[in-house]
Amino acid sequence: MGRLDNKVAIITGGAQGIGKEAVIKFASEGATVVIWDVNGEKGNALVDEMKTKDGQAHFSKVDITDINSTNDAAKSVAEKFKKIDILINNAGITRDASLLKMTPDQWKQVIDVNLTGVFNCTKSVSPYMVEKGKGKIINTSSVVGIYGNFGQTNYVASKAGIIGMTKVWARELGRKGINVNAVAPGFIATEMVQTVPEKILENIKEKTPLGRLGNPEDIANAYLFLASEEANFVNGAVLSVDGGLVL
Ligand code: NAI
Repeated sequence: MGRLDNKVAIITGGAQGIGKEAVIKFASEGATVVIWDVNGEKGNALVDEMKTKDGQAHFSKVDITDINSTNDAAKSVAEKFKKIDILINNAGITRDASLLKMTPDQWKQVIDVNLTGVFNCTKSVSPYMVEKGKGKIINTSSVVGIYGNFGQTNYVASKAGIIGMTKVWARELGRKGINVNAVAPGFIATEMVQTVPEKILENIKEKTPLGRLGNPEDIANAYLFLASEEANFVNGAVLSVDGGLVL
């Protein structure tokens, strides 16, 4: 018996990093997982890799910045699997620069993916959840969305915005049987933090009471809890998973 038996889950940005770990975990817990990602090569490679593991995964090339793309993809999941139980809004990007150096294009790229992308996916998927009177939506914020960070005006604005949207949707969709929560990861060892200088990472480890960076599985476990029946009365929460970095 898996914790997600018979559930249909969409995981955005599931081709690599935290999303990939979530795909593997959700499938091993019995979910049918659909990966939405712009990276076709890695997405298809993961579907192949999953053939040797427990559970099933499917891939659709979806650019979450495009509402037509998310609408079509949501419709096709609902038609194929008859329902959508879980949406993990995990895809996100960084384009770091201090305010004085940040270009309007860097601002726009991050807002388009991290904020508008989460709006698009939720807008496209939630009607299918409302139809069934049931669903779980998990948004990916960040520790920096709560506390701010040097050089990340665009990213912090998007991740703080995600917390705001989570609370609005928890109110609006909670009435329709849908739980909406957010996870706020600390610094997690994925490709995303490869752009962070080693000295800063060492400093972060030192400041973290648990003395290490997080790994993708730490976040996938939080997604799993919030997507499972065990979290049926959790709504509008922001779960920090950061080793106690900021207390
Ligand atoms: P990653 O860079 O390893 O993976 C992100 C995935 O999103 C990639 O597969 C990429 O192709 C996909 N993606 C990018 N733009 C897309 C678009 N327009 N449409 C569809 N897919 C798109 O990132 P990582 O580290 O796994 O992060 C996952 C989430 O966790 C992100 O939202 C990130 O902001 C958040 N996060 C990560 C932290 C970290 O330290 N790694 C810390 C806090 C939050």
